[in-house]
Order: sequence, then C-alpha cells, then structure tokens
Amino acid sequence: MSFAVKLMNWYRENGRDLPWRTTHDAYIIWLSEIILQQTRVEQGIPYFHRFVEAFPIVTKFAEANEEDILRLWQGLGYYSRARNMHKAAKMVVNDFQGIFPNTYEGAIRLPGVGEYTASAIASFSSNEAKAVVDGNVYRVLARYFGIKEPINSGQGKKMFTEIAREILDKENPGTYNQAIMDFGALQCKPRNPLCGDCIFRPECVAFQEGLVGMLPVKLKG
Ligand code: ADE
Repeated sequence: MSFAVKLMNWYRENGRDLPWRTTHDAYIIWLSEIILQQTRVEQGIPYFHRFVEAFPIVTKFAEANEEDILRLWQGLGYYSRARNMHKAAKMVVNDFQGIFPNTYEGAIRLPGVGEYTASAIASFSSNEAKAVVDGNVYRVLARYFGIKEPINSGQGKKMFTEIAREILDKENPGTYNQAIMDFGALQCKPRNPLCGDCIFRPECVAFQEGLVGMLPVKLKG
C-alpha cells in the first residue's frame, strides 16, 4: 500500500472534525488558513467562528472597517495578518469581481498568501493537486524518509517540496493534505511522538535508525 493510501486510511479513523473541513468555499478556507498561520488549532477555532459570523462572504470583509477587523483579531497577534486580509479582500472585490480565487495561481496573488496557503486553498476548495508543506509535513517527511537535510536551508526546502509533490495523492489532494497535517499534529508529534502504535513503523527510516528525536534538522539563526 502506498504512503498516501495508508495515510488516508489512518485519517478516516483518526482525523479531527475541524469546522473548516466541511466547506469548499475558498473564502472560508482562506479565513481559516490565515488564522492558523501562527496560531494553534484550539486557539484558532473560536476566532474562525467569529470571523465567519461577522463576515460570511468576502464582500462583507472588504467593506468592513479595519478597526472592526482588528478588534475581532485581538489576541491572535501578528496584526499584519489582519491588515493583509483586509487588503486581500478588497483586491478580490476590485480585481476578481468578488469571486475568491480557488486556484493556486489566483490565490498566490493575494497579499499574505504564500505557497503554503495558496496550496491549501486550491487543494481544499477545488481539489487542485498542490501539496501543502508546513511544519507538520516537514516533520513527517523528514522522519519517514530519514531526511537529514535542514528544513530551512535552500537545498532542504527544495528537497522536501519535491518529495511532497511526488507522494501527494493526485486524485484526492485535499483529503491527503488534511490527513498529513493531522498525522503530524496527532501522531508524529514534535515531542513524544506515538511511534509505539504508528502505522508507518515498519518503513519509517527515522524509527528504524533511532533518529526520530533528531529529525527534522533545523539550522539556528
Ligand atoms: N493548520 C493549518 N491549517 C490546518 C488545517 N487545515 N487543518 C489542521 N491544522 C491546520
């Protein structure tokens, strides 16, 4: 069985019911992903609900006063995220006829949307075959394949991105991407990973070589 198939079987049994996983609305997915950029899932959930309630469609977000957006954002920090969101919403209204982009190429044009977020929006909203590469994905891949290249070197980033693209399930990229993030968050955790009952134990290079605690490698500075 392939990595992707095993992973998605695990996800079916163990994945989290998160509120942004029941929609294909690119705008709602964007809201969730910007909130989660530097925020833990449990902390982000109430903010997500409040934003969806206050601004159910992107035109409402674009029309809002920046002070109202910043007030709702209070507690999340990194206020440039909220300001970029406002800019992005206005750009969708002015340049995209109010239709939130559901493709990678469309989404990446928005302020505050980088490769990770554009891949998340495109794969979750329209099943575009783009692999997300976030901290969870770096950790899972570094351990499974035993990659010792630093995740924050130019060469390392390239290597991880290439592998992530290769092993992505091209038929179900949205589900696959949610699955690898949950696997990293719940099973292949940064500290105290649950190797004892892990589905990948027989083939995980880091487990076989006793390197789980040392991977992924990150350069200081
Ligand atoms: N962190 C960032 N995006 C996420 C998502 N879609 N599901 C779970 N954790 C996430």
